Amino acid sequence: MFTRQFYFLGLAVSAVASPALLQRQYNASNSSMVQSFKDVPITKEIQYIPCFDNYTCTQLEVPLDYENLDAGFTNIAFLRYEAAEQPASGDIIFNPGGPGESGVSVLISLLPQLLELLGDEYNIVGMDPRGINNSGPLLDCFDGKPWLRDYYYGQVYNDVDPRSNASISKYYEGSGTFGTWCMQYLNKTAKYANTPATARDMLQYAELLAESQGRSRKDAKVDFYGASYGTVLGTTFAALYPDRVGRFLIDAVVDGDDYYHGNWSQNLLQADASVESFFDTCAKAGSLCAFYRNGSTASDIKKRFDAILLDLEENPVPVNDPLFVQFPTVVTHIDVRVLIQTAVYNPPVYFPLLATVADGLEHRNGSLAAALLVKGVAPTSECDYLPGGTGTDTVLPKQVIACNDNNKSFNGSEEALFDLFAEQKRISTYLGDTWPLAVVPQCRLLNITPPKSQLFPGFKRINTSTPILFADNVLDPVTSSAELMAGYFEGSAILLQDAVGHGLVVTSSNCTSSYVQKYFKTGELPPKNTTCETDFDAFPQTPGLKKRGLEPRNPVLRSHIAL
Ligand SMILES: *[C@@H]1O[C@H](CO)[C@@H](O)[C@H](O)[C@H]1NC(C)=O
Ligand SMILES: *[C@@H]1O[C@H](CO)[C@@H](O)[C@H](O)[C@H]1NC(C)=O
Ligand SMILES: *[C@@H]1O[C@H](CO)[C@@H](O)[C@H](O)[C@H]1NC(C)=O
Ligand SMILES: *[C@@H]1O[C@H](CO)[C@@H](O)[C@H](O)[C@H]1NC(C)=O
Ligand SMILES: *[C@@H]1O[C@H](CO)[C@@H](O)[C@H](O)[C@H]1NC(C)=O
Ligand SMILES: *[C@@H]1O[C@H](CO)[C@@H](O)[C@H](O)[C@H]1NC(C)=O
Ligand SMILES: *[C@@H]1O[C@H](CO)[C@@H](O)[C@H](O)[C@H]1NC(C)=O
Ligand SMILES: *[C@@H]1O[C@H](CO)[C@@H](O)[C@H](O)[C@H]1NC(C)=O
Ligand SMILES: *[C@@H]1O[C@H](CO)[C@@H](O)[C@H](O)[C@H]1NC(C)=O
Ligand SMILES: *[C@@H]1O[C@H](CO)[C@@H](O)[C@H](O)[C@H]1NC(C)=O
Ligand SMILES: *[C@@H]1O[C@H](CO)[C@@H](O)[C@H](O)[C@H]1NC(C)=O
Ligand SMILES: *[C@@H]1O[C@H](CO)[C@@H](O)[C@H](O)[C@H]1NC(C)=O
Repeated sequence: MFTRQFYFLGLAVSAVASPALLQRQYNASNSSMVQSFKDVPITKEIQYIPCFDNYTCTQLEVPLDYENLDAGFTNIAFLRYEAAEQPASGDIIFNPGGPGESGVSVLISLLPQLLELLGDEYNIVGMDPRGINNSGPLLDCFDGKPWLRDYYYGQVYNDVDPRSNASISKYYEGSGTFGTWCMQYLNKTAKYANTPATARDMLQYAELLAESQGRSRKDAKVDFYGASYGTVLGTTFAALYPDRVGRFLIDAVVDGDDYYHGNWSQNLLQADASVESFFDTCAKAGSLCAFYRNGSTASDIKKRFDAILLDLEENPVPVNDPLFVQFPTVVTHIDVRVLIQTAVYNPPVYFPLLATVADGLEHRNGSLAAALLVKGVAPTSECDYLPGGTGTDTVLPKQVIACNDNNKSFNGSEEALFDLFAEQKRISTYLGDTWPLAVVPQCRLLNITPPKSQLFPGFKRINTSTPILFADNVLDPVTSSAELMAGYFEGSAILLQDAVGHGLVVTSSNCTSSYVQKYFKTGELPPKNTTCETDFDAFPQTPGLKKRGLEPRNPVLRSHIAL
């Protein structure tokens, strides 16, 4: 279908790979090649077996609570891309964010970009953190019915418009009742799915790896690359096990204090500047940008763009073109803000689309916007309930893990939710209306608490066994707290990359990858105040080819708003 083509554009081009980088392949017809973690034995020791054509897999049995073995055990999934030359320099554990994103599946989809950034001397290990995808414990509030979960998430975030107090009140009750509902279904083991426990699992992996290589367990160190929420996981590990820090690349840095408070209120600090880069790059791109008009300056473009949003607030755009929708619908200002948010995560892919959307909306043509948002499109079957066919399987883990992590410290009153929306709008006029949907109110009645041993005690300044390399783009719309977090870790350095978007892999840069690879090879950090030039181009001649991707898998669904 026509709409699908647009919808999948961003995702489809993520497959654009550099085949030369994929050096090692297993023989796929080898019958011992497994294609599912169901076929990977759960073991107490690391036991990698060939899997998913180009990888090896292992699944570890770990205690739900390392301080209380009576709590039982669960399984953690690891997928490893092995360096061409073995023995490799080590195993870099990779976490792509969320919380809720699967390290296993994102390693598979981002492998070429990761190899370009990290080099080919280390093995790269995609780990599914607790509660996510192939790893236990199971987090499910929908009685084993994924279509029901998808349907729920497709409904619940619609029409939350903070311009209306009635709408926030409805969302407040709606998210509260989700917690109450969930309590009836969530397994008691759900409380063990939290960030400190996952950090402990990473240590377990490093120790077992050392043991399997005849090294001592107690000196084993973790090597790590985490982006976005992965920076919370990484800094949590470093705070809890400072003498076990190997090479740590912490990219697209979240304010960890804010995350553990459950506020999610320090994300949008550069959001408006990121959106404004759209106006600049559109003006520079000239006719390559569909929203450009002859002679426009960035400020002309901004004025027209803002006027469209303002008009949409009062006058949503009806959509009834059967080439784009299956039933009539309307596009609201909130819808467009969700698109803007998606766009700034990954400008090389989405800025050209955003320009076409804005160009249409200026003529009150919302067809493309509706198609991208999968509005006015029916589910294809009961089992594929969410229009667009992409599941919401990362959303529930995100909510449960984030709620477990915040130790009920977010003030759950309706008043606090009003304040949160108002505060976010003050921080970002473009994204402040939609960002508070990220997580917070769902925690209110989700009445679970991790054991004491899995509550994070907070950050304080600390010395790590290896200095940490923090990194970020010059403009990151949702995470820009490298300075703050680097301040907690003695001897760490910050590498900036001259690009707009979420995560280093949004573009390519020889400068960035050479500093990163030198760090992994030698531990040497870049000089202070290093900002790398990049190949960043928000309006590339060949749209999409510069796509890298850390955006949510189903980017334009608001339930996927995540780090
Ligand atoms: C792949 O493995 C199968 C069985 O293990 C074998 O018959 C086949 O020749 C192998 N192919 C290659 C290209 O090595
Ligand atoms: C399958 O591949 C693995 C790893 O490459 C190898 O150890 C094993 O012998 C192969 N099995 C067959 C039947 O070829
Ligand atoms: C394995 O690598 C080949 C090319 O190198 C690629 O076509 C294939 O999709 C990869 N398989 C997986 C599961 O990533
Ligand atoms: C979970 O991992 C499998 C591989 O085991 C992958 O095919 C699937 O897409 C992943 N699911 C999610 C939600 O990431
Ligand atoms: C919405 O609620 C807030 C906080 O209670 C209040 O300050 C504001 O005036 C209300 N707005 C409207 C339009 O009623
Ligand atoms: C909870 O999870 C455990 C471990 O996975 C499982 O054995 C048990 O059956 C589950 N209980 C319920 C009520 O689903
Ligand atoms: C665009 O503007 C330039 C200079 O302002 C003018 O020379 C040119 O004719 C204009 N082109 C169009 C298509 O309006
Ligand atoms: C609306 O925009 C779409 C996508 O850009 C385009 O294909 C369509 O022709 C436009 N409709 C009208 C009536 O101009
Ligand atoms: C987060 O919320 C707590 C109370 O819920 C508040 O004390 C704290 O100042 C907030 N922190 C930030 C960074 O907004
Ligand atoms: C968790 O919350 C409880 C109750 O508010 C508090 O007493 C405790 O100190 C908190 N624990 C941590 C580690 O923040
Ligand atoms: C980056 O490195 C590659 C390979 O070494 C080289 O071909 C390319 O020209 C370099 N690009 C820049 C912008 O330096
Ligand atoms: C780094 O850059 C900042 C801002 O440009 C400047 O204030 C600071 O002095 C610089 N630090 C060093 C060590 O050069």
